[in-house]
Amino acid sequence: MRVLGIETSCDETGVALYDGELGLMAHSLYSQAHIHAEYGGVVPEIASRDHVRKLIPLLDECLREAACGRSDIDGVAYTAGPGLVGALLVGASAGRAIALSLNVPAVAVHHMEGHLLAPLLEPNPPEFPFVALLVSGGHSMLVEVAAIGEYRVLGETRDDAAGEAFDKTAKLLGLGYPGGPALAIAAESGDPDKFSFPRPMTDRPGLEFSFSGLKTHTRNLWHKHSNEDNAQADIAAGFQKAVVDTLVIKCRRAMQQTRCGHLVIAGGVGANLQLREALSRAGRKYGWGVSYPRIEFCTDNGAMIAFAGYHRLLAGQFESEVILAKPRWPMKDLGTLR
Ligand code: KG4
Ligand code: ZN
Repeated sequence: MRVLGIETSCDETGVALYDGELGLMAHSLYSQAHIHAEYGGVVPEIASRDHVRKLIPLLDECLREAACGRSDIDGVAYTAGPGLVGALLVGASAGRAIALSLNVPAVAVHHMEGHLLAPLLEPNPPEFPFVALLVSGGHSMLVEVAAIGEYRVLGETRDDAAGEAFDKTAKLLGLGYPGGPALAIAAESGDPDKFSFPRPMTDRPGLEFSFSGLKTHTRNLWHKHSNEDNAQADIAAGFQKAVVDTLVIKCRRAMQQTRCGHLVIAGGVGANLQLREALSRAGRKYGWGVSYPRIEFCTDNGAMIAFAGYHRLLAGQFESEVILAKPRWPMKDLGTLR
């Protein structure tokens, strides 16, 4: 079975073709980040309109790359949520229309399930069960994954997501959008120990996160020291180290609690090299296997949606003639494959 995946939940338009036997055949991605940069964050209406412009040309590009025609598509998977409703509706309507015109099934995919399964697209994929650290612009959570479709959320953020904290802090420091990569670059020339930062929620038991206090702490530091030499880089480095340390501590707890031997990192913040290195080091020290998707599959893409959708379609799951867009879609409401 060959599945077309469509991702339009935020500011990336992604299309991919995944084949059950051949694996990922092709994927095309277009990032709108440069358009939103001018506004310092994603403007939902602009995002929707740009998805409308880019989706079909990207689909054609992807099919060309895979040397396939539209009639080679056996099923369609589109991101139905969570995300920006207007942006989601573009991919959902196009996906449903393509499925209808080809007389093939279409399935609504949960964006975070896509992220969570992205490491399985790599060579030597992790074996089940594993613990997944999902850190994106909208979510931070630890999930125990027994199998595809069998997820137990171990802890979530109480306020800002990790990526959101990166984005807001980068904005505060005048580093532009998207904030995560910009802050990581600025941090390279900073001293992470110049200022002290808290490691939020690590002084009490539990697997929940909270990043808003760290954000406030960073704002206060910036207001006090912004005129000092190298303050921007030093604060960026200290902030990044605090987030990384906090995530490592929580991952270690989750691994102890579940007695799982493998950790998977996914979502946009998973592209952060300091985080990847710190978790690999922790894995070596404590004896866990650690996997991540390639950098371009950490952030939003169509390949992870095609892959997640392929498994749901294979299990016989699809929706008939509805266009689903669910801006809020708690992961606990996601059905199993059976
Ligand atoms: O998964 P994603 O593409 O979109 C959502 O589902 O939200 O994640 C985007 C988030 C943004 O907050 C972005 O700043 C962050 O991931 N991000 C990073 C890095 N690359 C992207 N954060 C830290 N370091 C990076 N290198
Ligand atoms: Zn995402």
